[in-house]
Amino acid sequence: MEFSRAIRIAPSILSADFAAFGAECAAIEAQGADWVHVDVMDGHFVPNITFGPATCAAIRPHIRGVMDVHLMIAPVDPHVEAFARAGADIITAHVEAGPHVHRTLQAIRAAGCKAGVALNPGTGIEAVEYLLDLVDLVLVMTVNPGFGGQEFIHSQVEKVRRLRAMIGDRPVHLEVDGGVTPATATLVAAAGADVLVAGSAVFRGGSVTDPAPYGANIRAIREAAETARR
Ligand code: DX5
Ligand code: ZN
Repeated sequence: MEFSRAIRIAPSILSADFAAFGAECAAIEAQGADWVHVDVMDGHFVPNITFGPATCAAIRPHIRGVMDVHLMIAPVDPHVEAFARAGADIITAHVEAGPHVHRTLQAIRAAGCKAGVALNPGTGIEAVEYLLDLVDLVLVMTVNPGFGGQEFIHSQVEKVRRLRAMIGDRPVHLEVDGGVTPATATLVAAAGADVLVAGSAVFRGGSVTDPAPYGANIRAIREAAETARR
């Protein structure tokens, strides 16, 4: 994984057909996705439950590029090894998931993965200030984690802007997740985000048997973000 700040679109398979994950991953990549974003939820840290490491391992062979695993679970540490073994390229843990996120990030890197740290909408940027040299990615939640299809929370745009300044020259991606559409992509890209996660705005209108709308949706988000950068 070469570091660059080029805009990357990471469709979240939370909005895919759960009975066809392998084919859905292949379809979004064929339609122009840069990364595949995988949302793991435990019904404890967040109110919803999705799937765990076995599903990640099962979909891995269907992903040619980057598998970006977003853990919305607590505790995290007992499960880091399993997600690394499942083939995650990036593992992101929430700063709110426990008292020892610093140790969690060390464990993710020790397991051979890139490490990401995520912030809920109510969490301030100072929570990651002393973690920036330990991470490869900071994820700003632009909805409350747990469900796809929620409304973008506009107060987070300023958070993205301030985090971008705090990251400075470090090779750290700034990812946003939740309510991303072409309209909100414009806002977060202008504020400095480089990785845009989108679930409903990518999968809407398409299916594994008719994946062309995925491509049109990805292009619309990318174009909005790239235009905002200029
Ligand atoms: C929410 C997840 C997101 C979600 C985004 O908890 O982390 O990745 O799938 O979905 P949309 O793009 O529909 O808001
Ligand atoms: Zn996510």
